[in-house]
Amino acid sequence: MADLIQRPRRLRRGARMRDLVAETSLRAAELVQPLFVVPGSGVRRPIASLPGQYHLSADEAAKEAAAVRAAGVPAVLLFGIPPAKDGVGSWSARPDAPVQEAIRRIKGETGDLLLMADTCLCEYTDHGHCGVLRDDGSVDNDLSLPLITAAAVSQAAAGADVVAPSDMMDGRVAAIRAALDDAGLVETAILSYAVKYRSAFYGPFREAAGSAPREGDRSGYQMDVRNAREALREAALDEQEGADMLLVKPGLPYLDVLQRVAGASHLPVGAYQVSGEYAMLEAAAAAGQLDRDAAVTESLLALKRAGARFIITYYAFEWARRGLLR
Ligand code: PBG
Repeated sequence: MADLIQRPRRLRRGARMRDLVAETSLRAAELVQPLFVVPGSGVRRPIASLPGQYHLSADEAAKEAAAVRAAGVPAVLLFGIPPAKDGVGSWSARPDAPVQEAIRRIKGETGDLLLMADTCLCEYTDHGHCGVLRDDGSVDNDLSLPLITAAAVSQAAAGADVVAPSDMMDGRVAAIRAALDDAGLVETAILSYAVKYRSAFYGPFREAAGSAPREGDRSGYQMDVRNAREALREAALDEQEGADMLLVKPGLPYLDVLQRVAGASHLPVGAYQVSGEYAMLEAAAAAGQLDRDAAVTESLLALKRAGARFIITYYAFEWARRGLLR
């Protein structure tokens, strides 16, 4: 008599069949490698808070970008550390800023790499906030918009294919789109950090970028961990304002949000596996508490399974180079 108990017949499936029916895969073509660009030349300095990641001058960033491309990763996301900071983040829109310089060099040397530039003021302001401050120390959304817009136009003019506003000011996607179009930069795409939570998992990045707020925190403009429905509203607004792609950030602690946003939006939705997630995996692996390769691959696959079309991760280059993706 037939066995009436229904079982998933996993034991009958060999590896080939498991691969054939797997619902999720991970390809180098779906990854983005972040790079940190600093002033100077010939600089390649390990970042203490992000083991395995480097502060690179524009010339070194161009070399690194070529190697990233050769490994099969199609895109880099550039962050800049300026030579000086001030109240309004002046260096963010200068053509001679580290990121703008790196963009021009990478374009010249590795033309087919997709160049994304993180657009924000926090790496450029002396107070570390993502916008400009009022006298009472709060961020002035509307006064910040023209500065963020100018930074985006400057990055696009240098040759960025994609500008990625991560400041979370209201209305910045529409403002950036209008300014890009006015400048004739109609082909430049906008990747909006639409759903960005106020998270403790950005800690190592802020050390790397020297961008921790001097006073206060980012709860005035970044999202509240307790909310998920609000993410759908943020995503819908940025879509209406003209974003080409959306980002959910951080990744692993927000899989539910990622799944909901990916299901609700008509745009491609990516996930950012942020610095704190990377540091956590690295620390546990260094302590011998987990199998590094298996844990990283599992975490990336989880982001894909939840609906990420692409992933920004500090592991992109290494995982592609070592052939850990397929
Ligand atoms: C800039 C920005 C941050 C990150 C990406 N863009 C820092 C922040 O919002 O404080 C975090 C990236 C990471 O932690 O890996 N606004």
